[in-house]
Amino acid sequence: RQNERESLLIVLNFAKTFFQETLLNTDEGKGIGLSYFRERGFTNPTIDAFELGYTLDQWSALLQEGQRRGYSTELLEKAGLILTKEGTDGGKQKMFDRFRGRVMFPIHNVSGRVIAFGARILKVDKTQPKYLNSPETTVYHKSQVLYGIFQAKQAIRQEDVCYLTEGYTDVISLHQAGIKNVVASSGTSLTTEQIRLIARFTPNVTILYDGDAAGIKAALRGLDMVLEEGLNLKLLLLPDGEDPDSYVHKLGAEAFKSYINEHSQDFIDFKASRWLTEAGDNPLKRAEGISDVCASITKIPDLLKRQTLSQRVAQVFHVSEQSVISEINRLLRKQQ
Ligand code: UTP
Ligand code: MN
Ligand code: MN
Ligand code: MN
Ligand code: MN
Repeated sequence: RQNERESLLIVLNFAKTFFQETLLNTDEGKGIGLSYFRERGFTNPTIDAFELGYTLDQWSALLQEGQRRGYSTELLEKAGLILTKEGTDGGKQKMFDRFRGRVMFPIHNVSGRVIAFGARILKVDKTQPKYLNSPETTVYHKSQVLYGIFQAKQAIRQEDVCYLTEGYTDVISLHQAGIKNVVASSGTSLTTEQIRLIARFTPNVTILYDGDAAGIKAALRGLDMVLEEGLNLKLLLLPDGEDPDSYVHKLGAEAFKSYINEHSQDFIDFKASRWLTEAGDNPLKRAEGISDVCASITKIPDLLKRQTLSQRVAQVFHVSEQSVISEINRLLRKQQ
């Protein structure tokens, strides 16, 4: 088992290097892949730090080079790098590269070894997914991984906060702008394992999701999970249509940093301001809002924290602290 893990890591590292060389040393790589990264504003040091690459628009460039180097097709398949299909001609298997004609984002584990890839199509259309990702393998469990954690971990410790984004390019563009304490959940809904991974480096999380309906939904879903793990949480929604990548390019590094500092809210303000806007003077809606914020507070394991936060909820909604505490206790009893 240990042996298989190590073999997979070795073949994944070979693939990463092959994709890097394809990006930097072939006409197609330079003409298409590198130009694409340039258009997105990625500099050479950034491309280097994230070990970005490119896959030729061919059926078996990696397969052939892998075989030439002595990697078995079985290993390449177990690594999620090639696919096999039963052929129509006498049932003979056809093998081909999983990733073709895409820019490649290696996914590293905490110690910096490549365990999987995300692969972006150059022109988005409806016939193919924008990003194609490695399948689950012996070394890649999607729910346990945070994109960028290897490049971010030192900065997360230093800054004592982790910015959590949705996407690969959010991590990369913030990193390039000097904000290095940033990781991505990579489109999946946040998991408890991912939160525990952050908790190894800091107790403070700021969620920086895309400013669209999907981002808001994902933030609200992630919120309770982060609280459940006992972490301190802030949130910031970007303007509609923006994500951290697009917005840091629009504002520049310094203005983006100020924007984060000025606009991130603790989870109570984040939830309350949404409810208060919606409720206006409607007392039933306000009560619903209080109950919703209280429901999140019940997720927090620490009793003292819950009590302090009850005071804040009372202030924000202009109700008595006692009524907030009774609501929290009612919800806690219901959960038992
Ligand atoms: P987004 O749609 O916000 O993409 O998905 P993005 O990161 O802003 O990418 P660009 O800027 O268009 O290149 C957020 C994340 O969801 C995952 C990827 O990890 C992506 O970074 N995703 C998205 C997929 O895995 N597959 C998809 O088809 C789309
Ligand atoms: Mn495993
Ligand atoms: Mn999005
Ligand atoms: Mn984007
Ligand atoms: Mn996005």
